[in-house]
Amino acid sequence: MQSAESPKEIVSMSRESGVALVTGASRGIGPVIARELAGAGYRLVLTGRSQNEIETLAKELNAMAIPADLTDARQLEAMAAAAERSYGRIDVLVNNAGGDPQREFDAMTWDQNQAIIALNALAPIHLAHALLPGMLARGRGHIVNISSIAGRVSFPYTEAYAAAKDGLIGFTRVLRSDYRARGVIASVVILGAIRDAGQGDRTAKEVGLKLPSAGTSPASAVGRAVLTAINKDKAEIVVMPGPGRVLKAVMDLFPGLGPAMNRAAGANDTMRTVIEFRKQRLNG
Ligand SMILES: NC(=O)c1ccc[n+]([C@@H]2O[C@H](COP(=O)([O-])OP(=O)(O)OC[C@H]3O[C@@H](n4cnc5c(N)ncnc54)[C@H](OP(=O)(O)O)[C@@H]3O)[C@@H](O)[C@H]2O)c1
Repeated sequence: MQSAESPKEIVSMSRESGVALVTGASRGIGPVIARELAGAGYRLVLTGRSQNEIETLAKELNAMAIPADLTDARQLEAMAAAAERSYGRIDVLVNNAGGDPQREFDAMTWDQNQAIIALNALAPIHLAHALLPGMLARGRGHIVNISSIAGRVSFPYTEAYAAAKDGLIGFTRVLRSDYRARGVIASVVILGAIRDAGQGDRTAKEVGLKLPSAGTSPASAVGRAVLTAINKDKAEIVVMPGPGRVLKAVMDLFPGLGPAMNRAAGANDTMRTVIEFRKQRLNG
């Protein structure tokens, strides 16, 4: 993929104290990404709805915390403007905030399905749109979108989530192609199941399931992947054990394999348990 692109000297932004905005920094994988970037020398702006959590992390990392609900367009724009003002620029945007209510598509209202798209697709695209002009004016920037393998492997009960996350992969490809020559790079980091932080880990603990270490990755691998995407100018990185990119390509060639694989791996049964658990919680 990279060979089709015009050659470009890659500048390590961390060495020049780049400024990175990390969304979804209040819990789960976001703080792991934030710590990795801080360790690489970035100054950070952290966002999420949970003010206490982002402020605590901001103290630890000597960073700025700006709370916002990213599904509210006005809050998103105000946060983006405040983030740019805080250090005078944003060099790196990590669109990490996201998640799925883990409920059946038909059991959710249309508004609930729309909210999934708003958080996982519209918000990252909107933030990229808000911060791109500044990056273009300075002739450099990097947008890293955190996506999921859910759509590619037909992961059960993720219709709207999978649409949003696959959409984010398409968005990243076109953004990368259109703006790379002007110094703004886009990368997508596509995650399989993460075992020790984030929504999957929380759900497993809540429902009383044990996430196997086989087939899952630690959150630290996501932090490293984000840094690699920036430093090595990667178009796509798949964070899964083994040859993740190959698995993703095989799923594209043989989409029928996804459901069979989910059945064999027990994902259907596991997700049925999770769905029933959520249903019971909602009913009472
Ligand atoms: N965990 C996995 O196994 C896995 C697998 C594949 C992909 N992913 C992707 O990885 C990313 C991180 O997931 P995670 O597992 O770390 O999830 P998580 O633990 O549920 O954390 C989600 C983060 O997003 C923020 N967020 C949620 N709704 C928001 C809203 N309306 N406005 C602003 N921020 C909001 C949350 O902060 P507040 O609640 O404070 O707002 C939180 O910081 C997501 O994009 C997810 O889709 C995760």
